[in-house]
Amino acid sequence: MLVLGINSTHDAAAALLRDGEIVMALEEERLSRVKHHFGIPRRAIETCVAAAGASIGDVEHAAFYMNARKWLTVNAIHFLRNFPASRNYLGQKPALWRSFLGVGRRIRAETGFRGRLHFVDHHTAHIDSAFWPSGFEEAAALTIDGAGEAETTVLARADERALVRLATSRYPYSVGKVWETVTDWLGWKPTRDEGKVMGLAPYGDDRFVERFARVLAPCDDGTFRQDLDYFRFQRGGPRLFSERFVAEFGAPRANEEELQDHHRAVAYALQRQTEEVVLALARHLRARTGLPRLVMAGGVALNCVANGRLLREGIFDEIFVQPAAGDDGACLGAAMNVAHRRLSVPRGPAMRHAFHGPAFGEEETLAAAAARGLVPERPKDLAARTAELLASGAVVGWMQGRMEYGPRALGHRSILANPADPASKDTVNRLVKFREGFRPFAPSVPLECASDWFEDARPSPYMLLSFPVRSDRRERLPGVTHVDGSARVQTVERETNPLFHALLVAFGKRTGVPVLLNTSFNVRGEPIVCSPAEALDALARTGLAAVVVGELLFVKNARVS
Ligand SMILES: [Fe+2]
Repeated sequence: MLVLGINSTHDAAAALLRDGEIVMALEEERLSRVKHHFGIPRRAIETCVAAAGASIGDVEHAAFYMNARKWLTVNAIHFLRNFPASRNYLGQKPALWRSFLGVGRRIRAETGFRGRLHFVDHHTAHIDSAFWPSGFEEAAALTIDGAGEAETTVLARADERALVRLATSRYPYSVGKVWETVTDWLGWKPTRDEGKVMGLAPYGDDRFVERFARVLAPCDDGTFRQDLDYFRFQRGGPRLFSERFVAEFGAPRANEEELQDHHRAVAYALQRQTEEVVLALARHLRARTGLPRLVMAGGVALNCVANGRLLREGIFDEIFVQPAAGDDGACLGAAMNVAHRRLSVPRGPAMRHAFHGPAFGEEETLAAAAARGLVPERPKDLAARTAELLASGAVVGWMQGRMEYGPRALGHRSILANPADPASKDTVNRLVKFREGFRPFAPSVPLECASDWFEDARPSPYMLLSFPVRSDRRERLPGVTHVDGSARVQTVERETNPLFHALLVAFGKRTGVPVLLNTSFNVRGEPIVCSPAEALDALARTGLAAVVVGELLFVKNARVS
């Protein structure tokens, strides 16, 4: 039985299950080439269905990642209750209103789907996007995001028979919205640039921590306190923060304006309070459920610093965060909810990796190369040859097999560089990524070597946990050690990621450091590359010295005359 999951708003994505197992899952942006694509993921649906060797007519069930009717009702009530202060509120979300009104009809019209369409509550979709892939028989579940229909935080107990909510917070009380507000105040784009705020946080001092505890603080009953006086998002723009926020924390930053100490200090306080909230919610959940395992999802679950701290505090023995923890993953959760809880399809195997996107054959790479006049090498020992290039200072694009599902590049669509070179961060930024200089790059390391380089290292296959770099190793990893000595680590296993593992080992053999700087394979402002053609175009358009696609190596300027 085929069950399709769909998210058709920001970070639109599709996932397809056959008899409970993932056939394919991917974000529409990778195909449309529009970052955070908003709209029905037509291409992603087509690609998923083709990967199953089926046609859309064979798909009997589709699951939508939001209860659209509930969303419309809740938001209409909020609008009416807060009128006239809310008169801007409708105007603030026109695309969302349009996208949920008559969504079923539009999905059918745009994709040709003729089966039964199910609507799944958003946080239920988030929970099931983590619970079923985790492989745990039962687990405590914590989801935190901006908002679903109304829920913004859910603490639950999940097993194969039931999903029981234990505590919830509802809009406008929302940790995700606090992040969006600070992102807006810092002059960046809310719902997109929260990662920049997290990267900025360790540069700040603690001057605002006490004051920020009035904005956001944990409670001991599975909820949190949030003073709405600091916010305007709930009343409708134009900015998400209130006059009081500005009065207490200072003037907002314009987009390209220099970052100042008070900006950094607010990011610091926000990160600190978020960690306190996450820890308090986790403690409450552990006490209420008595269960040793936790699954997490929702945008805030992408906060690898909070996740790392949660693990180190030892509140739970094991934590599973699905790689597509944000709304791009909610379509998978919706499909799993429908398959396993409504249609009683047996559970598939636990998720072991994030490589659920499309793959391309070598003939496609050769055709793309020929069209661009590029001549590949086919090295006998690809790992050793690539390690040699990286050790010599080259920045290399690395594309292998099926594309990652979720925002992180994990060795299938990655840009790699030597983390031991103090200039590597600037080089990668100057040649390819053009990111803000304060943002850290992440390291990948073979799982078996991780504790030699990082304190308290645990398996972190999805780069969603941050660990301290061992103090005696920091000097050897300047390219990936953040200002506070931490790193957002990806541990790599031979079994699930063999070629990338071999590359790390080869690089270690050559340099003594089995670690690579790993950032997503994309050109500034664009989504991660999907096809060989996009990877080869990146070689021409950026300062990449070489690109590896499968077994083929393309070195810059090795062209036919
Ligand atoms: Fe969400």
